[in-house]
Amino acid sequence: MRSWSRWSWRCSPALEAWVEEARRRAAEEAVRAVGNGDVVGLGSGRTVVYAVEQLARRVKTENLKVSCIPSSYQILLEALKVGLPTSSLYEHPELDITLDGADEVDAELNLTKGGGGALTREKILASNSKRYLVIVDGRKLVERLGSTKPIPLEVLPFAAPALKRRLERVFGRAELREGSGKLGPVLTDNGNFILDVYTGPLENPWEVEERMRKLPGVLEVGLFLGMAHEVYVGFKEGVKKLSRG
Ligand code: 5RP
Repeated sequence: MRSWSRWSWRCSPALEAWVEEARRRAAEEAVRAVGNGDVVGLGSGRTVVYAVEQLARRVKTENLKVSCIPSSYQILLEALKVGLPTSSLYEHPELDITLDGADEVDAELNLTKGGGGALTREKILASNSKRYLVIVDGRKLVERLGSTKPIPLEVLPFAAPALKRRLERVFGRAELREGSGKLGPVLTDNGNFILDVYTGPLENPWEVEERMRKLPGVLEVGLFLGMAHEVYVGFKEGVKKLSRG
């Protein structure tokens, strides 16, 4: 089994200045996997913005033809800003490749996602893509999911208080995500709420995902298990590509 321990020295907080450059370079490498004519899913978050910029550069310099399906208004606006052609699952229900970020990555390339609140659409794009490529900086590598970030759940607003109570009984503190730049709860692009569940390190994320998903009112769980085909990890020294299997 793969372990991150030999890389952990590269990920101390003192090295944070390298993070943006590491993300940009990892995105540049991941974007090289996009082929001519591809339908490309775009996840959300700051790292995906680098992928959008790099893809737009390839479209301009190589005359690459792509059709992009964004997972959020954030990334739709970024794609439009750089002139990437956008589309939807109505035109293209099957995607060739999806490029996405993540909040945590374990040694089996399982992910915690949803820091940007776009987990449901991201999971839909990922699960309908032939290839799902994830781009992160080295600080996102963890031994166990849940150790550095809560597990986000997109939930029906009607069910949120009851779900909070039930989740707290089983998994630990659950907080309704609050907006910044807006008072009150974050509304997802689907008009729902996010509950962040502070589980701590998960021994069996598969079991947790199944149990959370079964609760009525839970629309999606921010655990992406067995989905990523490749993860591009940006370090200060360069980019490491990890493949599943
Ligand atoms: C959005 C996500 C993002 O991919 C995740 O939060 C990572 O974001 P960033 O690249 O900004 O660190 O899951 O729902």
